[in-house]
Amino acid sequence: MDFKVTKGGGLNGEVTLPGDKSISHRSIMCAALATGETVINGFLRGEDCLATLNAFKQMGVDIQQDGSKVKVQGVGLHGLKEPKTELYLGNSGTSMRLMSGLLAGQNFYSTLTGDLSLSTRPMKRVVDPLTLMGANINTNSAGTSPIEIRPTDRLLPITYSLPVASAQVKSCLMFAALYADGPVVVKEPVQTRNHTELMFKKFGIQVEIKSLSDKRELKIFPVTSIPGTEINIPADFSSAAFLILAALITPDSDLTLKNVGLNPSRTALLGVLKEMGADISISNFSDDYEPWGDLKIKSSRLKGISLNPSLIPNLIDELPVLFVAAALAEGKTSITGAAELRAKESDRLEAMASTLEQLGVKFKLFEDAIDIQGLNQEIYIGNSSLPFKSSVINSFGDHRIAMASAIACTRAEGESLIQDTQNVVTSFPNFLDISNKVGLDIKE
Ligand code: S3P
Repeated sequence: MDFKVTKGGGLNGEVTLPGDKSISHRSIMCAALATGETVINGFLRGEDCLATLNAFKQMGVDIQQDGSKVKVQGVGLHGLKEPKTELYLGNSGTSMRLMSGLLAGQNFYSTLTGDLSLSTRPMKRVVDPLTLMGANINTNSAGTSPIEIRPTDRLLPITYSLPVASAQVKSCLMFAALYADGPVVVKEPVQTRNHTELMFKKFGIQVEIKSLSDKRELKIFPVTSIPGTEINIPADFSSAAFLILAALITPDSDLTLKNVGLNPSRTALLGVLKEMGADISISNFSDDYEPWGDLKIKSSRLKGISLNPSLIPNLIDELPVLFVAAALAEGKTSITGAAELRAKESDRLEAMASTLEQLGVKFKLFEDAIDIQGLNQEIYIGNSSLPFKSSVINSFGDHRIAMASAIACTRAEGESLIQDTQNVVTSFPNFLDISNKVGLDIKE
């Protein structure tokens, strides 16, 4: 599938975007392990989260969906059943890594597989610490899926320092910890997204958190049972990022995004864009078990910055958006410490470099960094001259590259083509409808 993109008009009005992907995954996992019913409101019906949902159905969990409302009849910590076939998790790294930990504690055999992209992503990062815990778990010789998990007598309470800042690895160990003989301690070099911590708290699972100056330490206590609950899921900030970008770079925009998740471990992009000159304000802020609120975004003139690399884990999924913002800013933007981008659904450093090249933007690419020379277009003085060249862009089957590139091309001359966009449905199934509703012109 491809997207055809032409110049967009100003983005206006109010929209509510689909639910948060990270929180949706975790809600199904905890609800399945709970005792009794959990009601989830605002579940993301994207392919990634549906892969998680279907995997638990395959393990005997009764899950009923009515739009974005999902009712899960939890089977308890030890109530899952051996799946009759392998668990196919599509494009979803979050499903595979978190479920590896959860399944390491079960008394049955399971195999996790995925699509071509997921089958090349590094899985040793979860298999190594799980093996230290005594799990019976293997990847193939390249350290990638399929992952095979066999029952083990016991999972040991280990202390583990994460070698890379990864919420998926942290969360994998947190799920395994529910089945360990004693408390598991996970140390992270910088805080990564803390949705598992907040979801565990919501389900009454005890997690002790120590924030030290140079790291963060979590102690997860095993449990015997967890009660079902009701969960409201905010709109996904990472999906919002594409519309934030679009509103900022398109003249005459004044857009409101409702009920967006504003967990600080996810929203570093907001601070960075504001530093670049973005006009973004927050209203109706509320804090349930997760913080959320409305975002109002107006067209803004942006300037380049040097990104503080310690922010990377808190805007990792938004970097493609930041690359496009940088490409339109005045002056140079330097992004360093971004090696993890190479281990995502595609090599996002290479993929975005290729997008920038097509758009006619100058940049220097390094192993873990990029310098982007902003075009400094006078985008607010009429629409007659558009900053980017019309382009044919390969998204490498990566949803975030496809969406960031599509938004960029709304500021390109003529018609652009974004190729291989079918995976947009993994995280933002109604991206086209919403984009067109608020004033853009992106078609299949
Ligand atoms: C996620 C964590 C991040 C992020 C991914 C979702 C999660 O991955 O990029 O989209 O839900 O825990 P890493 O843990 O590999 O950084």
